[in-house]
Amino acid sequence: MNITIIGTGFVGVVSAAVYASHGHTVTGLDIDSSKIAQLNQGKVPFYEPGLSELINQHLAKNLNFTTEYAEAIPSNELIIIAVGTPSASDGTADLTYVKAAAKSLAPHLAENSIVAIKSTVPPGTLDHLQPIIAKHTSARFTLASLPEFLREGKAVNDSLEPDRVVIGANNQETIDRLTKLHQPFNAPIIVVSPDSAQMGKYTANAYLATRITFINQIADLCDKNGADIDQVIQVISPDHRIGPHYWYPGFGYGGSCFPKDVKELAAYAKQTGLDHNLLVELNRLNEERIPKLLRRFSEQIDGWDDKQVAVLGLAFKPHTNDMREAPSIKTIEYLLNEGAIVTGYDPEALKTAQTALPSHDKLTFSKSINEAVTQADVVLALIEWPQIVEFDFTQTKLNKPQWFIDARNQFNASELREAGYEYLGIGK
Ligand code: UDX
Repeated sequence: MNITIIGTGFVGVVSAAVYASHGHTVTGLDIDSSKIAQLNQGKVPFYEPGLSELINQHLAKNLNFTTEYAEAIPSNELIIIAVGTPSASDGTADLTYVKAAAKSLAPHLAENSIVAIKSTVPPGTLDHLQPIIAKHTSARFTLASLPEFLREGKAVNDSLEPDRVVIGANNQETIDRLTKLHQPFNAPIIVVSPDSAQMGKYTANAYLATRITFINQIADLCDKNGADIDQVIQVISPDHRIGPHYWYPGFGYGGSCFPKDVKELAAYAKQTGLDHNLLVELNRLNEERIPKLLRRFSEQIDGWDDKQVAVLGLAFKPHTNDMREAPSIKTIEYLLNEGAIVTGYDPEALKTAQTALPSHDKLTFSKSINEAVTQADVVLALIEWPQIVEFDFTQTKLNKPQWFIDARNQFNASELREAGYEYLGIGK
């Protein structure tokens, strides 16, 4: 199939590489010419394991990138819109870029093409796009929804071996063509209406965010008694209705999807008249989590003022350099406000950190864990990068009182205590 993907952000680039790896001819399109120039040289503008290898295998063969709609669209049968949908000031999804892409692609559409939306958009969006495209083309086209469920840091694998492919379409020929395209992915193909596909995407993310918030609340209760959250998870996991996965308490969820999708679904629910919905509360609990935890730790470490703190892990999670809604941002801002002296470490996100974090005379960055902890009063292991989790902190224990905050419960508390740290975990 000849496929165009509009928007070379995270989802667009990964999708382009993955469809190309299935033998399709793919053109990636973006209005940002510097991004396109980089991609045409095989350089991916963000860190994602395995992605640049995949791009380079197909570049100049069945994969190319352009800024020109006239070049990207004409003979292609499937046009996928994967542009960003930032949140508007009322929390709903801002569809400006999706609508602009629809308008720009329309005059170039070939007869009988499919325009599919991969961007996360609320139900009803296809009804808005239909007249925008129809106004600027005489070609016959159909619309579909193709939501994505990939995780950053594991995106290549998630896309090559997805848990499921969701096709949201009403037209049978469109369903057949999209089903044929996705059959080699070797995953269950779920065909539903466009609205169900879009609600399904929001629901999956909102549920996962609920799960995280729920276990964080339980962890907070464990902190009030003698229970250990890891043991509580052992108790609940064998129940098939619950399961053992995705139960890692911590500083709350971050990233480009969960916070935004929860807020959007909450705003959408409000628009429909459901004012008191769980999602509003979910968002509030997640937003207040970091200051609440840092206040509690403050009591345990005798205040943050003048403390040297090594913040280990700045990206929002391991295996990415993405710092959108990363816990490090709120954490470091809070610590600086409280008078702490902070050194940040991350294996991949130091460059992103320069712009994502405020410049401050009490904030420095370090390329090595060893260096970051040389004067630390508090070691704050924020993100579970293997480099951090596998590091032997018993070897770097200093000859002074030191606290070790294990924000993702990844470390052996008794080993660290034996080495002389005051160990503080989540729900322990
Ligand atoms: C998520 C969804 O998983 C993906 O399906 C969707 O398409 C986009 O959003 P992503 O944001 O890349 O993907 O990250 P994910 O690994 O799901 O983690 C999201 C956040 O939840 C991170 O901040 C992570 O640290 C946190 N998390 C995850 C927890 O706090 N506890 C957990 O048990 C799991």
